[in-house]
Amino acid sequence: MKRGCFLWRGEPVAFGDGESIAIALTKAGMRDLSTGGDGGGSRYFCGIGACQNCLVVVDGAVVEACLTPASDGLDVAALGGRHE
Ligand code: FES
Repeated sequence: MKRGCFLWRGEPVAFGDGESIAIALTKAGMRDLSTGGDGGGSRYFCGIGACQNCLVVVDGAVVEACLTPASDGLDVAALGGRHE
């Protein structure tokens, strides 16, 4: 199984082959995808791109974390801030 690493709010997160950003973050125990860290913001919910609850910023573009494949070296940030 190929593994790699991307940055989430400046911290490295490992992922497995074929995993989305949302899956990798969930497996790493990070379920709150917002800037507040209080669990009341963005999160992985539907997993199919319908709810838009998992929006994050990847290399400057807003994307659904559940639909975006994890890739080595990506810089992933919460909406509304970078590395907060
Ligand atoms: S979890 Fe619903 S759009 Fe990503």
